[in-house]
Amino acid sequence: MDRIRIRGGKPLEGKIPIGGAKNAALPLMTAALLTDETLTLENLPFLADITTLSHLLVQHGVTITMTGAATAGETGHTLALSAQHIVSMTAPYDLVRRMRASVLVLGPLLARCGEANVSLPGGCAIGTRPVDLHIAGLERLGAVIELTNGYIEARAPKGLVGAEIIFAKPSVGATENLMMAAALARGETHLVNAAREPEIGDLARCLNAMGADIDGAGTERITIRGVPRLHGARHRVIPDRIETGTYVMAAAIAGGAVDLIGAKHSDIAAVARVLEKAGLVVSETAEGLHVARANGRLTGVDVMTEPFPGFPTDLQAQMMAAMTTANGAAMITETIFENRFMHVPELCRMGADINVHGASAMVRGVPQLTGAQVMATDLRASVSLVLAGLAAKGETIINRVYHLDRGYERLEEKLAGCGADIERLVDGS
Ligand code: UD1
Repeated sequence: MDRIRIRGGKPLEGKIPIGGAKNAALPLMTAALLTDETLTLENLPFLADITTLSHLLVQHGVTITMTGAATAGETGHTLALSAQHIVSMTAPYDLVRRMRASVLVLGPLLARCGEANVSLPGGCAIGTRPVDLHIAGLERLGAVIELTNGYIEARAPKGLVGAEIIFAKPSVGATENLMMAAALARGETHLVNAAREPEIGDLARCLNAMGADIDGAGTERITIRGVPRLHGARHRVIPDRIETGTYVMAAAIAGGAVDLIGAKHSDIAAVARVLEKAGLVVSETAEGLHVARANGRLTGVDVMTEPFPGFPTDLQAQMMAAMTTANGAAMITETIFENRFMHVPELCRMGADINVHGASAMVRGVPQLTGAQVMATDLRASVSLVLAGLAAKGETIINRVYHLDRGYERLEEKLAGCGADIERLVDGS
């Protein structure tokens, strides 16, 4: 298995291009199931999660063609997805267990074919992550759903019918599944207490370009007026706010100044606010964002994860890494997922001083981390160890790099381009 080696202590200086958002790309790809015409998606990141979902979609009968970079000089890829004939309404366990977002085929398959059998995703490294909100919402649209042999078996032989759905809590995935299903339902659907993440707005824009009639995406109340059919479209994926936030944290912990090309300030406003309090300078430029840490250590600040527009759970581990070497203490509270502190023991092995009490972690800043052999069990935890390695004295080896490959395109190249001493050790070396 590949590993990453970092020799820490170098400040970052340079430009980092921000890719298309993984978490926007995944639901957009499943939206291709809603039409028999071609959906072309530009600026897709080249990541393991995209490949995993492509395998699932091909299995349903989708033809996928990759046509390389969107425009000269860009890194994003363009995929043409055509679901002219759906040949299977089943998303098997073997594919779904590899990536929870596979459950996003449920709404589109049910809406288009009147039937879907999707394996329950089961638990994952960061908690139990139920799908009850997806199921209850589809039932409100008239679907009959049974849970049998580990599968969600959903039927709507006479089609789905619009309804008001009030979510008990905002869920990104449930909002996306319901928005896609309701796009082809008869009548009007209202999603209340909907998730407001930028990826929801991106999906709504794409669905509207495909002929859907959706208002209010990005607010807590979304109205979807169902249409009989959707058509093909061409859509460009938004920049990845989590990748952006990760490189903001990289500059925070390693010091120096970086330009994040293509990044959008409004997508990471909560993150910028917190880090500015800690002593980082984050400013908007014509190309994206400029991030700089003046000489000296950051100051510890408290953070609580919340649904958008709050501080994202997907940047909690990276924030914790940045706080390990701050002046003073930082209380980091995780309110979205239980069990999302697996990076803590690994950061402690690098010399961090962190105590976990329930959903909160008390981070007491230390002057210097030291390099170590580390590994993590999920994507964002793994990248927090990379960030810690950038600041640590000596050599850090990150094992299980496949977690990073799920969500970060050319991570080591982008950091090395800014002067970090980082390289991938290919299996066996
Ligand atoms: C998405 C993101 C993930 C991010 C998360 C929260 C994708 C592909 N993944 O995941 O990176 O960490 O949003 O921002 O976009 N819940 C229920 N019942 C449900 C569904 C969710 O109780 O049916 C709970 C979850 O356990 C969690 C909370 O709702 O506590 C939010 O989860 P949700 O927004 O659904 O996360 P995902 O869509 O799975």
